[in-house]
Amino acid sequence: MVPELQKTTVRIQQPERVMGLIRAIKEQGGSKLQVISDFDMTLSRFGCNGRRCPTSHNILDNSHVISEDGKKKLKDLLHHYYPIEIDPNRSLEEKRPLMVEWWTRAHELLSQQKIQKGDIAQIVRESDVMLRDGFNELFDQLHKYNVPMFIFSAGVGDILEEIIRQANVFYPNVHVVSNYMDFDDNGVLKCFKSPLIHTYNKNNSVLQGTAYFQQLSTRTSIILLGDSMGDLTMADGVPSVENILKIGFLNDKVEERRGKYLDAYDIVLESDETLDVVNGILRFILMET
Ligand code: TMP
Ligand code: MG
Repeated sequence: MVPELQKTTVRIQQPERVMGLIRAIKEQGGSKLQVISDFDMTLSRFGCNGRRCPTSHNILDNSHVISEDGKKKLKDLLHHYYPIEIDPNRSLEEKRPLMVEWWTRAHELLSQQKIQKGDIAQIVRESDVMLRDGFNELFDQLHKYNVPMFIFSAGVGDILEEIIRQANVFYPNVHVVSNYMDFDDNGVLKCFKSPLIHTYNKNNSVLQGTAYFQQLSTRTSIILLGDSMGDLTMADGVPSVENILKIGFLNDKVEERRGKYLDAYDIVLESDETLDVVNGILRFILMET
């Protein structure tokens, strides 16, 4: 059915359930389908040749517009809070206030750096960001079959939109909800717009009445893509879900986190920097029979 599921990076706890879900989504057809995806480390790569790739925040942190002192402070925050973010032994309740702290402090630091709106395109162009291999096919297929793609990100909206724009895949079926920068009249960053989206509040609480999902209420089949345990609630605002297939990229601390990921995600992709499996499943679902 989907040859890509034979890749050695694929782990599935309940194969029959997964095959049943994929078949059911295919039966419903492309007109019932929507894709809901995280951005950082899900659509973008986690690593390349043994080096880490940047998140949308890191793209700003590493850029020439941030002072050395600012860079050091942002790196210190990352080294303190990232291990907490991915710690499988802490509960979400424990993590949530700490994530609010991280995002608030990082956004405050960034807002002191006089970042210019006009510099964003160059900052992205000069960064090491990479979309996962196969991103072209993913965005092209969804566009071709008019499947809405909702990107729900705790990263920086202005940066990730620029990434997909520079990759020439920002099609009209792509809709982004994220943290957006607020610029003053001179185009200088003054703060970030609310609501603050962090890893563990990706649910209706920040989707303001979930107008987007209401509009798509007939799209009852969902493919959800994420890399964090916080991404699992991204579809909570969808009014009537019939079939949801959750695909999780397990990028870091693979051994430690495998059990939790296998329990939560239908398909787990371990250290897989490609979108091969997602594309294979979509090809099967959208293929005319
Ligand atoms: P997301 O992939 O769930 O949308 O979350 C965005 C990622 O951004 C999350 O893994 C943490 C990371 N991050 C940074 O790298 N630097 C920062 O300053 C902040 C606040 C988050
Ligand atoms: Mg992510």
